[in-house]
Amino acid sequence: MTSRVDGPLKVTGRAEYGADFTFPGLVHGYVVLSTVAHGEIDLMDVTAAKEAPGVVGVYTPFDTLQLHTPATPVMGETWVPLQDKEVTYYGQPIAFVVAETYEQARDAAMLVEVFYQTRPALTSLQDGLASAEDAPDGRGGPSSLAILAEGVESIEDALAESPVVVEATYTTATQNHAAMEPHSAVAVWGPDGLTIHSGNQASDLQAAELAMALGVEPTEVHAVNPFVGGAFGGKGHTSTPAFLAAAAARALGRPVKAVLSREQVFTATAGRAATVQKIALGAEHDGALNALQHDSWCSTPMDRSFVEPTSHGTSREWYATRNLSISQKMVPLNIPPTTFMRAPGEAPGSFALESAIDELAVALRMDPIELRQRNNSNAPPGKDLQWSSKHLDECFRVGAERFGWADRSPEGRTDGDWLVGMGTATAMFPALRFPATVEITLLSDDTAAVATSGADPGTGLLTVLSLVGGESLDISPDRVKARLGDSRLPSGGMSGGSTATASAGTAIMIAAAKAIDELLALASAPGAPFEGMEVAYADGRVQAGERMMTFGELLRALDRPALSVTGSSAPGEELTKHSFSSFGAQFCEVRVHKWTREIRVSRMLGVFDAGRIINPKAARSQIMGGMIWGVSAALHEGLEIEENGRLANGDFASYLIPVNADIPEVDVHFVEYPDTLHNSVGAKGLGEIGTVGMAAAVANAVHNATGIRVRHIPIVIEDLL
Ligand code: MOS
Repeated sequence: MTSRVDGPLKVTGRAEYGADFTFPGLVHGYVVLSTVAHGEIDLMDVTAAKEAPGVVGVYTPFDTLQLHTPATPVMGETWVPLQDKEVTYYGQPIAFVVAETYEQARDAAMLVEVFYQTRPALTSLQDGLASAEDAPDGRGGPSSLAILAEGVESIEDALAESPVVVEATYTTATQNHAAMEPHSAVAVWGPDGLTIHSGNQASDLQAAELAMALGVEPTEVHAVNPFVGGAFGGKGHTSTPAFLAAAAARALGRPVKAVLSREQVFTATAGRAATVQKIALGAEHDGALNALQHDSWCSTPMDRSFVEPTSHGTSREWYATRNLSISQKMVPLNIPPTTFMRAPGEAPGSFALESAIDELAVALRMDPIELRQRNNSNAPPGKDLQWSSKHLDECFRVGAERFGWADRSPEGRTDGDWLVGMGTATAMFPALRFPATVEITLLSDDTAAVATSGADPGTGLLTVLSLVGGESLDISPDRVKARLGDSRLPSGGMSGGSTATASAGTAIMIAAAKAIDELLALASAPGAPFEGMEVAYADGRVQAGERMMTFGELLRALDRPALSVTGSSAPGEELTKHSFSSFGAQFCEVRVHKWTREIRVSRMLGVFDAGRIINPKAARSQIMGGMIWGVSAALHEGLEIEENGRLANGDFASYLIPVNADIPEVDVHFVEYPDTLHNSVGAKGLGEIGTVGMAAAVANAVHNATGIRVRHIPIVIEDLL
């Protein structure tokens, strides 16, 4: 059990987040947001704002900062603020007021007068369905696809020929990231260019994105973010405060800090799309899936910048089925941007698919676990590349045993005034990795350093780097200091897509092997302590027969302070040999009050096959957080968009998230099979999978308890009256 290395810094307030940085002459910026959902700004009267005490600059689309939308966007579309007078959502950044103090900037921001030519706004996904557009699948493939068995003409035919069919439409709500650390930035220009302190998921990507927006060389932007207060996709892109602080600091020649208020985070950043998903399943009486049809619609902002891929992300790889048809459409709305949020696609997609599978189990009078096991796949449908490793059956077996699934009745049970039900669902998330380079330095004090640009948004990556570094160098991990979150370090992938351990970990192993080779070469070189000897390395020492020196002793003997090497790794040949995914089985028990219909989650269990687990303590925390987010999606979270595009609950007073009293003891278990076909570390990734399937497990448990099938999330008391 390793506690995270940065834990003490974080809980004592010594960890410095973006907005904690300050510099002499620092001024404060406040972002002004639009108050209409659609229209054009005719005029902005900034006279009063400019004359307000302490104000040093007011920037609007009429008198803007020097910023451009990058020609080659990093990770999809980039939203660079104040670029034009067109307003496409309520809460869009439209001005930036900079003053000597935060309060002065905020006061002056209230004095900016905006005159709009308003236009009708489309803000409801239901209303927009009629104008849906085909969505790109994000992997260069078509918007829709069908894989049909020989002789089958259409998915409709396959469904018609299936003895048992369930068909239903499911909907999921818009969610906001609302990370603990609001989006913020401190920007300082010096002789070498810009230094930016702003939480993100990959310091090198943030530096690249900012350089393009500012029209400077990539080497002129230094992004520093050793600590990030939560991200999960919400800080994958450079934020509005970072763009504005950087450009204003350049214009003013003074350091600028910009911090969004909690309420501003709800619209001036990006959230999860709402979805509508229609699923039809056709099965034989024994449960074998003959047809699976999944048609999805997701909300997207007017710039069509992000698709929540519920069809492509979910149905394509989950079950063995003879016939598969999926389609993905997007519905452009006058709403704030949408973006990646923990398990994009799979999180809302699994609510629909895993609810439908539960409905099929009910229709077949079959145990829902048995139905899932019957349709277990060896490879994604339509692909001949088998899973590198898949222990989903074992997850269900172990989970059923631990959870007491055998006691579940298809009709639920009662306990006094409470209706009690159990539900389950499959979880899946693809195992991916990105190219990464890591620098390893052996130091003469017998410690080592591992460094890569990346970011640790709270996942525990820093600790994982120490652990993998220690293991690869055959020394204790507390002798390995890890560094992350600096764009000047070797480019190390990102904390996104559940890829960081596999990507950076593999690069560490390669770098460590190189470091040891170089150390041995130095040790046996002419004039060195092991000159001409046959040398080996183990336990942090160079040895030849009886003679032994630690690497620190050797470096000191050679009069070298350090030995540095870099190692790189990238996905390669393995992609032509196997399909890769993490798997899991989610279990949930709910208690619904007979009279008040209050819903309480009383027990939760997740059993996961995520390859090798590097740090069991952090892994458990990571998964537990994901499962809690699943409960949150099932019972609490959902943005209410008013007709005029304003969020009715865009703050923590009214946007529900679970509190401690909502969450019971959470049981997390791993079936551990290192997957070295995926990468040499053997870890498949577990950042996202914890949330997948949990909302369906909750809804399925609610059905088991009450007999009521709720096909939307969040589920509220009124649904069970
Ligand atoms: Mo994640 S949604 O890949 O940050």
